[in-house]
Amino acid sequence: PRKIIIDTDPGQDDAVAILLALASPEDVEVLGITCVAGNVPLPLTTRNARIICELAGRPDMQVFAGCDRPLGRDLVTAEHVHGKTGLDGPTLPEPVMPMADGHAVDFIIEQLRKFAPGTITLCPLGPLTNIATALQKAPDIAGRIAKIVLMGGGYFEGGNITPAAEFNIYVDPQAADIVFKCGASIVVMPLDVTHKALVTRPRNDAFRALGTPAGIAVAEMTDFFERFDKEKYGSAGAPLHDPCVTAYLIQPDLFKGRHINVEIETLSELTMGMTVADWWGVTGRPPNATFMGDVDADGFFSLLTTRLARL
Ligand code: BDR
Ligand code: CA
Repeated sequence: PRKIIIDTDPGQDDAVAILLALASPEDVEVLGITCVAGNVPLPLTTRNARIICELAGRPDMQVFAGCDRPLGRDLVTAEHVHGKTGLDGPTLPEPVMPMADGHAVDFIIEQLRKFAPGTITLCPLGPLTNIATALQKAPDIAGRIAKIVLMGGGYFEGGNITPAAEFNIYVDPQAADIVFKCGASIVVMPLDVTHKALVTRPRNDAFRALGTPAGIAVAEMTDFFERFDKEKYGSAGAPLHDPCVTAYLIQPDLFKGRHINVEIETLSELTMGMTVADWWGVTGRPPNATFMGDVDADGFFSLLTTRLARL
């Protein structure tokens, strides 16, 4: 299995991404979960990450607290999508497992230095503050990262927090800029993909029909999460953004994209946080990321349901 660190701001869809990883030990070994402020402030994302580990029967997992605000801007949160706790929907017990000692950023640096270069894949599911801070503090780690597979951005699909920007990139564009320029191999799951991974009623029913605490919780989370989308976008159901990252690690052929140049807008207030993706190769700028554009949604949900059944 490939060694991964999940960097996250749970978030119902982050929660499902974590559950999928923890249910797939033959594919991924989760070294630790690092939390960042994003969907909700840090005290809640650290709480929610531990709730999910306990739901997955993994109270032994190391969960680290990371950065509590973006590099150079005020924190923007998304309670309008995820509810007050960030994990609204199911009623789950408060976590009893402790937080791991130390800062998330130091954990990321230590682990990358401890294993041979090309061993650890980073999986950011929230704003990129922790990852950028690690790269700034220890520039040597850039060459040691096997891959960064992240959820963020959007191109043809536009944005979801402003007309131009997707939430994770918008919250900390400066951090995103550092990450996209770091030279590591990057795979991006933008809204162009995740807005095709929709939890339709039959897909939600399939989670619930698992009959397990995890299956029922996922059904309740995906019922709650982005429930406004149905009216807003007229889409079949809530888009399941972050699990696209962990699904990619297990079954990459579910996704199609292009290796292209992607730059982050950090200056214009109007388009702040936009992922300027050179999909048609018109700039001549060197490719720095594989920007996904399509997903086999049925394959994705069947993988998710089969794996969640194990928990
Ligand atoms: C991203 O923003 C968050 O609200 C979700 O958890 C996901 O990571 C989607 O734009
Ligand atoms: Ca997230």
